Amino acid sequence: MAADQSQIESAVSAVRDPEIGLTLGDLGLVRSVRTRRRRVHIEVALPVAAWPGTEELAEAIHQAANSVAGVDEIELDFVVMTDEERAELRHRLRVGMGGGAEPPDDDRHGHDHAGHDHAGHGHGSAQAAAMPAFLGADSKTRVIGVSSGKGGVGKSTVTVNLAIALAQAGYQVGLLDADVYGFSVPKMLGTDHDPIIIGDMVIPTSAHGVKCLSMGYFVPDDQPVIWRGPMLHKAIQQFLTDAYWGEPDFVLIDMPPGTGDVALTLAEVMPRAEIIVVTTPQAAAQRVAQRSAFAARRLKLSVRGVIENMSWFTGDDEKRYELFGSGGGATLAADLGIPLLGQVPLVNAVRQGGDEGRPITAVDPDSETAVAFRTIAEKLAALGPARVYRRELSLR
Ligand SMILES: Nc1ncnc2c1ncn2[C@@H]1O[C@H](COP(=O)(O)OP(=O)(O)OP(=O)(O)O)[C@@H](O)[C@H]1O
Ligand SMILES: [Mg+2]
Repeated sequence: MAADQSQIESAVSAVRDPEIGLTLGDLGLVRSVRTRRRRVHIEVALPVAAWPGTEELAEAIHQAANSVAGVDEIELDFVVMTDEERAELRHRLRVGMGGGAEPPDDDRHGHDHAGHDHAGHGHGSAQAAAMPAFLGADSKTRVIGVSSGKGGVGKSTVTVNLAIALAQAGYQVGLLDADVYGFSVPKMLGTDHDPIIIGDMVIPTSAHGVKCLSMGYFVPDDQPVIWRGPMLHKAIQQFLTDAYWGEPDFVLIDMPPGTGDVALTLAEVMPRAEIIVVTTPQAAAQRVAQRSAFAARRLKLSVRGVIENMSWFTGDDEKRYELFGSGGGATLAADLGIPLLGQVPLVNAVRQGGDEGRPITAVDPDSETAVAFRTIAEKLAALGPARVYRRELSLR
């Protein structure tokens, strides 16, 4: 029996590209499938020559084709898309994200108008119109800025591990490293390649089930960059709109230290954005964190919870040592009237995991720390999205 071409076509089309997370059929990457009796020749067009994960992809395509009766021999060729095919792919991704469409004009969603009006204000309404669906008022996506005020309290570590814990719980997760000065997230997450750029669209890098993009990729190493508010604003907006995020359940944003500019941008671009605050048990850290929470509140961003990091160290004697004091997280949560989502112990493997790009939640899921992050993820998910109660911002 000869192999059936259309059966092979649908089997190959159903293979999911590991980088984008969509099927080859949806992406339009299957250029041709030709059969000659029991032999099949498959041509798959990759968006760019250096497409990541092609070995994995080839393996999956072989398996899919092999599953069809009558296939004995498979010849697979990867070719690179033409400019036209790339433009078509970008279009598909944009449409898939609901971007490019006009903002919905529906009176049931009053706050949506406020968001769009404001995003358009001073930045050109074309920008607002091109917003991906996940920023819209009806989107299921929760955008959560992770803030601390004080540097070095483990904000990036918490963001990375929390993102992985959410992904492990089955959520689609994006992670934007908005710390233009720090730029530590891709390394901590253990990404093994740079984001791929298809024309004017950026494909975030996937690692441990998390789609990650760092502004640091686009900042030249040898050039000190002083980010002024408007520049930062534009960059963040671009990172959210020009990147293919799909429609994730969560987008976590590792915010740069300090309180001001990024929170302001979040408030403008995403009025639904929520903030969680990371602090150490120390009174000093807690006070600075409180200031950043107050700043977020003044921007009418909803501050949802506190995570206390470096809460204790367990010695060889099994005793817990509170190296940075105790109670900072609980006090801050009580002062702000929001829940303490969890406490994360100080563990050498956490630091090492961060340095080596082997995040503890991914590589040692049974560890005390990984369990702590999973609990935090559960609590955060259980809180549900923030309620947006205002019709417009009053920043001006
Ligand atoms: N729970 C922890 N146990 C052990 N080490 C930790 C823990 N949390 C963070 N660290 C380590 O502390 C250092 C600072 O953490 P991290 O870079 O996440 O902080 P940050 O708040 O993002 O800092 P910055 O303000 O520079 O962006 C890192 O070396 C990290 O590995
Ligand atoms: Mg950091």
